Amino acid sequence: MKFKLLFLSFFVLSSSTFFAQQTIDKKVNDLLSKMTLKEKIGQMNQYNGFWNFTGPVPKGGDSKVKYDHLANGWVGSMLNITGVREVREVQKIAVENSRLGIPLIIGFDLIHGYKTVFPIPLAEAASWDLEAIRLSAAMAAKEASAAGINWTFAPMVDITRDARWGRVMEGAGEDPYLGSLVARARVEGFQGKDLGSPFTIAATAKHFAAYGFVEAGKEYNTVDIGLNTLHNIVLPPFKAAADAGIKTFMNSFNDLNGIPATADAYLQRDILKKEWNFDGFVVSDWGSIREMIAHGYAENQKHAGELALLGGSDMDMESSIYIYELEKLIQENKVSEAHIDDAVKRILKVKFELGLIDDPYLYCNEEIEAKIVGSKEIVDATLEVAKKSIVLLKNENEILPLRKKGVKIGLIGPLAADKSSPLGNWRIRADNNTAISVLEGLKNYKGNDLSYTQGVKLINKIPEGFHEEVQINTTDKTGFDEAIALAKKVEVVVMVLGEHGFQSGEGRSRSKIDLPGFQQELLEKVAAVNPNIVLVLMNGRPLVISWAAEHIPAIVEAWQLGTQSGNAIAQVLYGDYNPSGKLPMSFPRSLGQVPVYYNHKSTGRPGTEGEEPGSVFWSHYTDEENSPLYPFGFGLSYTTFEYSAFNLSATEMTKNTSIEASIVVKNTGKVKGKEVVQLYIQDPYASATRPVKELKGFKVIELEAGESQKVTFNLKEKDLAFYNAKQKWEAEPGTFHVFIGTDSKVKQKLTFELK
Ligand code: GLC
Repeated sequence: MKFKLLFLSFFVLSSSTFFAQQTIDKKVNDLLSKMTLKEKIGQMNQYNGFWNFTGPVPKGGDSKVKYDHLANGWVGSMLNITGVREVREVQKIAVENSRLGIPLIIGFDLIHGYKTVFPIPLAEAASWDLEAIRLSAAMAAKEASAAGINWTFAPMVDITRDARWGRVMEGAGEDPYLGSLVARARVEGFQGKDLGSPFTIAATAKHFAAYGFVEAGKEYNTVDIGLNTLHNIVLPPFKAAADAGIKTFMNSFNDLNGIPATADAYLQRDILKKEWNFDGFVVSDWGSIREMIAHGYAENQKHAGELALLGGSDMDMESSIYIYELEKLIQENKVSEAHIDDAVKRILKVKFELGLIDDPYLYCNEEIEAKIVGSKEIVDATLEVAKKSIVLLKNENEILPLRKKGVKIGLIGPLAADKSSPLGNWRIRADNNTAISVLEGLKNYKGNDLSYTQGVKLINKIPEGFHEEVQINTTDKTGFDEAIALAKKVEVVVMVLGEHGFQSGEGRSRSKIDLPGFQQELLEKVAAVNPNIVLVLMNGRPLVISWAAEHIPAIVEAWQLGTQSGNAIAQVLYGDYNPSGKLPMSFPRSLGQVPVYYNHKSTGRPGTEGEEPGSVFWSHYTDEENSPLYPFGFGLSYTTFEYSAFNLSATEMTKNTSIEASIVVKNTGKVKGKEVVQLYIQDPYASATRPVKELKGFKVIELEAGESQKVTFNLKEKDLAFYNAKQKWEAEPGTFHVFIGTDSKVKQKLTFELK
């Protein structure tokens, strides 16, 4: 009886979803059948906010033209319009003036928070806590949707191995497995279980594809990678987002193997829309359709429009090419109305699913906005996520956690009292200087004698564009003397160094990735008078900190943690939260190693095995080690963990069987702690060369002091599949090694055969 009930409820549920989809498809087709060609093209046209919609209507110029397009129903979406009042105004123009009254979908870069800011995505990835990441996205969606937003241009799921690239802060680091799970968690957080709810929003997988592989980490640079890297490293997080039901994709500025992604039919049509059966829509990145002229791929704007549409780009962000060129391209038979119908149906479908067609003002409730934006629930959530994102890199002589009473502490550094940089780069709607600083966080602990000085001054630039930019000065060392004097007088120095909030992010690639300005010199001068230093790093990318790694007893990677940054850092420094983060991206010993990453290939000369001592004929540098300073998956705790009883339930696997890999983890320290237990595999011989390790599982466990836990992983054939030399995604029979440990350096392995 129970089974019948179960089956019946499953049938009803799936059929109701099926019928709901049928209903939407019918509604879409009905609406499409009423639209003129120009109205259809209008849906494919997206403008950036071009005036304050609560202000007077533009009288002339480009804004007047765009206003008229809005009123004619020739705009399908706007971005960077926020606040219920403004969104309502712009929606009214589109809905109440145009013939069919099709509402706009309102997009925004909700990358890590709206007005209340969460840790940068790279920091959140360091938590390895998928529930925390889902919560972060859900809270951000709740706050932004209350302000009228119903579409975010996130998650950015670009895998990257190059810390010179400014946008590493926006993704989940170097690994496709972790990146895939983070992508899914963010999609589920943003879109929730009911996209029709006014508190959930459509998400975007971006940037499709391979933007993270820009040559030399230089922003907007060219990308040339093989199919092996594209399919095994770059695409998996996008596929995970598509499988999670994401509603939109955004393409990328770069050309990929000679074809700009915006016009790449192999990516956008063959893989995304055909092979993955994606039924949402693709928006171009800002101006990327027009940029195909600069790429040397399109002859002119009309040609760019033709290439983009045929290449699978459904909506034109800020090129104004579709709206002016597509009718001509139809008349010249360069594109067909079927191409346009396909794009428009995809766009309308998302608008129906968001509930916008039935209620264009669904996201426009000023009371809800007042209640939710900046609410305690969301501010509290940022602290939970921030604490979990912190990575303890070094803690010699247990200098950490700090004692809570009777300690003279000197707080030094340009970022120590900075309330701006912890907000990171994508903080468009956050008010300036609204992060809790480290100084403010530490002041909540009253038992110690805390003194502060900047050491290296911050320069507060005049507010530009969306946000004020501060800079770490590179000319003035006048703060050194006071810093050194303070360091001489105290027991412990907490130094907060790193990058200001706009030294990473879009347009912020750096050719050097050490501590900017005089910070390194300040660190060395302070260390010379007081070696008891806790270095707190605030940065948007892995930095070269080899000197610190050798000379500084405690190092805490605190990234840019958002609104509650200082409280999260203080709670970790004082041990109220035992750090549990693990690096999602390797830290290089020197810039020359970049790109350095754990899942590298073996090469034909992997090491000194078989070579006579002193041989130079193997894959290495003559002046640097091969290993990173801190590897992927690395992070310490205030306690210690011991791994034992590593076991495989079998030494053979077939297509239809699985193997249980297990290990016992014991908390061998004095305090409760979390550990991210990581499982890696190696496929030592295959039809294409394979990485020396691949992350294929992890579990975050929490153990009391002295407690042990058996951790198990269930390995199946699908976990062993890869894009092989036959250009198929499949597992190949043969030997596989399994590793389980605390980070990607783990050595102990067990072996099984896939039959
Ligand atoms: C930017 C970024 C993209 C963002 C878009 C809208 O240039 O590349 O990630 O979503 O424009 O702001």
